[in-house]
Amino acid sequence: MMRRTRIKDLLAKESAGGEVLVQGWVRTRRSSRNVSFVQINDGSTLRDLQVVVEESCPDFGLAESLATGCSVSIAGELVDSPGRGQKYEVRARTVEMLGAADPEEYPLQKKRHTLEFLREIAHLRPRTNTFGAMARVRNATAFAIHSFFQSRGFLYIQTPIITASDAEGAGAMFRVTTLDASNPPRKDGAVDFGEDFFGKPAFLTVSGQLEVETFATSLSDVYTFGPTFRAENSNTARHLAEFWMVEPEVAFCDLGGLADLAEDFLKYVFRYVLDHCPEDIAFFEQWYHKGAVANLEGIINSRFERLTYTEAVKLLEQSGETFEYPVKWGLDLQSEHERYLTEKKIGRPVVVTDYPREIKAFYMRLNEDGKTVRAMDVLAPGIGEIIGGSQREERLEALRERMRQAGLHEAPYWWYLDLRRYGTVPHAGFGLGFERTVQFITGMQNIRDVIAFPRTPKSAEF
Ligand code: 4AD
Ligand code: MG
Repeated sequence: MMRRTRIKDLLAKESAGGEVLVQGWVRTRRSSRNVSFVQINDGSTLRDLQVVVEESCPDFGLAESLATGCSVSIAGELVDSPGRGQKYEVRARTVEMLGAADPEEYPLQKKRHTLEFLREIAHLRPRTNTFGAMARVRNATAFAIHSFFQSRGFLYIQTPIITASDAEGAGAMFRVTTLDASNPPRKDGAVDFGEDFFGKPAFLTVSGQLEVETFATSLSDVYTFGPTFRAENSNTARHLAEFWMVEPEVAFCDLGGLADLAEDFLKYVFRYVLDHCPEDIAFFEQWYHKGAVANLEGIINSRFERLTYTEAVKLLEQSGETFEYPVKWGLDLQSEHERYLTEKKIGRPVVVTDYPREIKAFYMRLNEDGKTVRAMDVLAPGIGEIIGGSQREERLEALRERMRQAGLHEAPYWWYLDLRRYGTVPHAGFGLGFERTVQFITGMQNIRDVIAFPRTPKSAEF
């Protein structure tokens, strides 16, 4: 049997001619008395392939019955297309239907469906232009992330998904247990997790940071890239309960070096995706976010602003804007504040550093002032926080003090403290939200539309 050629490869051929086999799903078909035009998509490219089935083809009758969503296998000749908008088409010799799709029932019809509707059929939405393009952009973005770090000699470390320690110290973790929820073993009135699978409480990780620090403090330049889980009840267009995070961790690096790395990294990833997915990006530009390409080009060519939290608060206080949430030194920046800074005030990405220690995680290095920590958030226009990171507290006693202040027990972090006991070094790292990055690249408003199967409060279908 002949080998299948991907539509992307067919359309990239230097010239027409020759017998080809194409397989894919019917997007549309229109028929007249003596010819059928069938648009096929196989996901290798945004573009459909037009197949022309003439009356003389023995499968002409079958072709006339093809409906949107059917899967087909078509052999024929690749010819120059007289029609507009496509270079080549296939003149069918044989048409085989692999799987039918009843037009009375198949939920994806030719019309444009709302994103809300498509979320309810997340198992079928990869067959739309939008989610095909999304999958290809996600793929290119993930590849760019690896290629950036690999080209700089970083080692890719796979950190665990099940963990016993709360990396953010924020308590927003999903428990992993095999205990019987309706009748758990008890001891002294409380559930006895000593009887549980791991013999102690265990959770899905909120971040691979603490574990990847063990490799940074032995192999110097490392990163982890995996799924992370947060049991926070945030029903926003930027929060998922399960999302992917990229976390580089660098030994012998301070906050300035980390901010430079983050800037180079984002620019590299944006450049790569623009260069490798031009059609998909143009599609998002046309249908979802006018100006997306100019926006990305602008960021690639701009220098990220650097501001301290204290300076940012001053700018917000002087802005004359009315915000929903108050602005005051010591309070966390809300997304409306972040967006004012990056969109209105500065007009490009901003790296905000040196936040008050009370609003940041326990592992961030305390500044000389005793009030702020070496934290860094990268804010991007249209999104707000896309990266969160810091220089780490590498001094044992200072870290123990921060943990005491945060009300954390030392016991589960004994191994993390060991990194400060033995051969400690200055080091720094950050976390990039993968879905927020894809949102930024595509201009998609809702984070539920940039991941295959979104998990959010009260929602985990599929
Ligand atoms: O700022 P966060 O919480 O930082 C950390 O977890 C650090 N341990 C990272 C590190 O230093 N290695 O999260 C990092 C990024 C955020 O900037 C945001 O882009 C994304 O992860 N993020 C989320 N994305 C989607 N849904 C959520 N619920 C998210 N929470 C954070
Ligand atoms: Mg953060």
